[in-house]
Amino acid sequence: MSDRTQGGTRIEARHFREVLGQYPTGVVVVTAPDTAGEPVGMTVGSFTSVSLDPPLVAFLPSKTSSSWAALRATGDRFCINVLRADQEDLCRAVAMRKSDKFAGFEWHRSPAGNPVLEDAVVWIDCVTDRIHDGGDHDIVVGRVVDLDFGSSGDPLLFFRGGYGSFRPSSLVSGDSDLLSHLGLIDLARPQMESLAADLDTEVTAIALVGDEMILAAAAGHTDIAVSPTRVGQRLPFMAPIGSCFAAWGDDELCERWIARVADGMDAAELAALRGVPELVRQRGYAIAVGHREGAHLESVATRINAGDPGTSPDDLRKAFFSALPGYNRPEDPDGDVELRSLSAPVFGPDGRIAYMLTLWGRPGLTSPADIRQRAQALVQAAAAASRVVADVA
Ligand SMILES: Cc1cc2nc3c(=O)[nH]c(=O)nc-3n(C[C@H](O)[C@H](O)[C@H](O)COP(=O)(O)O)c2cc1C
Repeated sequence: MSDRTQGGTRIEARHFREVLGQYPTGVVVVTAPDTAGEPVGMTVGSFTSVSLDPPLVAFLPSKTSSSWAALRATGDRFCINVLRADQEDLCRAVAMRKSDKFAGFEWHRSPAGNPVLEDAVVWIDCVTDRIHDGGDHDIVVGRVVDLDFGSSGDPLLFFRGGYGSFRPSSLVSGDSDLLSHLGLIDLARPQMESLAADLDTEVTAIALVGDEMILAAAAGHTDIAVSPTRVGQRLPFMAPIGSCFAAWGDDELCERWIARVADGMDAAELAALRGVPELVRQRGYAIAVGHREGAHLESVATRINAGDPGTSPDDLRKAFFSALPGYNRPEDPDGDVELRSLSAPVFGPDGRIAYMLTLWGRPGLTSPADIRQRAQALVQAAAAASRVVADVA
């Protein structure tokens, strides 16, 4: 990790990011048309209004960003699209894809001819006024030429590496329930960090608190997640995600896991789902394949959990059914698959599952041999974490 020296003070890069990550931002996509009229764009958290008279706004792209280079090459105009809480998929696609960033997403033209993304909360057409030097970033000041509301709904927020929308502070007090888990999770830090480093991916600890799973700690990084981590992310406890808790929990927990999705499933589907905890127990870990379906389910579930009015139970149902076939298939993969995650239990001093360690997949395909090796390493790390917890207790 590099250090930065400024005026004699050494600032460690990770520390800088973590401290600044305590400041929540909205998320915008800056768009402009290329020579063929197709949109180019960039996901940006550093958007701000600057001045009312004259009307100025600004955003700060990294000088090394290829997306910024592409935007800049289109000319001196751009459009700010403030994303809605349910546009996390779009946010990730524009942040991660190198080409075809907008494939699958609707857009239309603003009066100035810039691409306006469908469902954005507001759009702001700008002409580049000035570009200032901002260290390793540029400070792009835009003069506003037109602006308006787009879709109704709450804006998407980015905070501590996770996405959400505004929540009344009373809900945050639920975090105190997490405190009892955090001590145990802290004990497993070395296992999480060495596993993440050895396999070059992200390892997270996910605790079950009431009816929510909370991503309580993370080590390492994977390109299938958004940098730096998703700590703080909350998901409802419901099949097929969080199967470790159902597998190593009691019958009541198993029922709670199925209850939220059982409605509308036929008998065969329900029977298959009821068999999953036993399957996961026998295997020793849970496995999910399918990057897009898994990410989509997580994002819809997170929004439902956060009470986002723009996401309906029907959205959740659709996301659930498209992801279901990728979770805990009875047979091991017999060819390369998109490995999304592997999860294994860590047991508390009372011998009950305290939390699960999740080893996230990497972009693209993973071979069966690689999956076996990763699963084995994860199960060993989780067992080592359980021993540390038992020793300390
Ligand atoms: C929520 C979020 C906010 C971001 N904010 C900024 C930003 O303010 N400035 C920036 O340079 N990149 C930002 N990024 C990163 C870029 O969107 C993009 O991932 C990065 O530029 C990728 O590199 P490339 O442009 O070379 O493809 C952000 C990404 C996310 C997901």
